[in-house]
Amino acid sequence: MTHSELLPEGFAAFGRDEEGESWLMPRGLMSGDEFVDDDLLPDIAPGNLPKAVRPNISAGEVIAGMDLGGMTAMVTGGYSGIGLAITQALCSAGAHVWVPAKDMEKAENALAPLGAGVTIEPADFRNRRQIHAFADRFLKKHQSLDILINQAGVLERFDRLRLADGYGVHFWVNYLSHYLLTNLLVDALKKARKPRVVNGSSAGHLLEKIRWGNLNCKRMFYDPDKEDRHSKTAMTLFTVELAHRLYQINNKARVFSAHPGVVQTGLLANQRRWIERGLLTEEGAPVASLRQYFKRRTEVAAATAVYCATNPELDDLLFNGHYFEDCRPARLLDEETQEWRGVAPHAQFYSEARLLWSVSKAMLQGQIPP
Ligand SMILES: NC(=O)c1ccc[n+]([C@@H]2O[C@H](COP(=O)([O-])OP(=O)(O)OC[C@H]3O[C@@H](n4cnc5c(N)ncnc54)[C@H](OP(=O)(O)O)[C@@H]3O)[C@@H](O)[C@H]2O)c1
Repeated sequence: MTHSELLPEGFAAFGRDEEGESWLMPRGLMSGDEFVDDDLLPDIAPGNLPKAVRPNISAGEVIAGMDLGGMTAMVTGGYSGIGLAITQALCSAGAHVWVPAKDMEKAENALAPLGAGVTIEPADFRNRRQIHAFADRFLKKHQSLDILINQAGVLERFDRLRLADGYGVHFWVNYLSHYLLTNLLVDALKKARKPRVVNGSSAGHLLEKIRWGNLNCKRMFYDPDKEDRHSKTAMTLFTVELAHRLYQINNKARVFSAHPGVVQTGLLANQRRWIERGLLTEEGAPVASLRQYFKRRTEVAAATAVYCATNPELDDLLFNGHYFEDCRPARLLDEETQEWRGVAPHAQFYSEARLLWSVSKAMLQGQIPP
């Protein structure tokens, strides 16, 4: 078999550098090649925006009056921080919520008040077999899945940056584990009446383009903040392609990515590098001068994901695949912008979304080493 026959769709070349690290180059990034299409997910004209949702609305207010009785949902990371507030809101409207738990005791304590409204099952998303086992357990009990919210994520300490199989923890836990889980659940999403998938993203995506030659950060210094932002760009592009693919098999399916805003959660615990830079106290709280940026409550941070998962306004195909913040589709920015609100073109290109899909698949199939 020749090199080019081994290449995943959309790639022009791959090889190993002098240190034995693998690299790959998408078509279109090599001179003389063109992407098949480099269209952007279109900006949404202001006149087409869903009706204004007032600032600082909470997840409970977004969902008030809705009846999700009989619906099945899944919230990864659904037992702490923003994910917990999402689980609480969905349960309050009558949905039954599945929550995978890395730490069963922590999950059971946090979710005890929701009683039979939740099913907690062990799954550490660093471990691929546990994701498969978790999805299998779900599929044995349920034919369909109405709402999937991919919210689990890490910021991580310097001593836990690489997983045993070589993946960077951010690329894997924040992005690729969710790509895997979602694909394992596609049949269940297909069978739901109007399925919704919401991918947790972040404004951090504005600062990081996908690094095609070095997706898994093998060939540079591992900066956890940079890798966190890179994984959020991946989640946003994943949303664009998943929206397209799910629509092909269920034309009522809608997929969105959601930025929660900035909020103080357990994510900030043990972030030694931020403590050393004088940004956090030893207890993981923002220092006084930064506190104003962390005023958002988790119930408010959860509102956009809950809105995207449930609001009938978003049945409109126009919004499919878009990135939301403050319960509204974000404005498409110029690539050079310094703004901190909106969505970057590099996270909205169809061509890049499609490439990321195929390279992710190839990675999971072992065609491309981590
Ligand atoms: N907080 C913010 O300002 C902010 C801003 C933008 C985006 N976000 C994103 O929002 C998401 C949720 O963050 P958060 O602030 O709510 O933080 P959090 O309270 O730490 O919640 C993260 C959740 O993910 C779970 N998780 C982490 N690693 C896992 C693994 N290997 N397997 C299974 N579950 C795992 C955690 O479980 P354990 O507690 O057991 O580890 C926890 O339930 C993250 O993706 C984050 O990047 C947050």
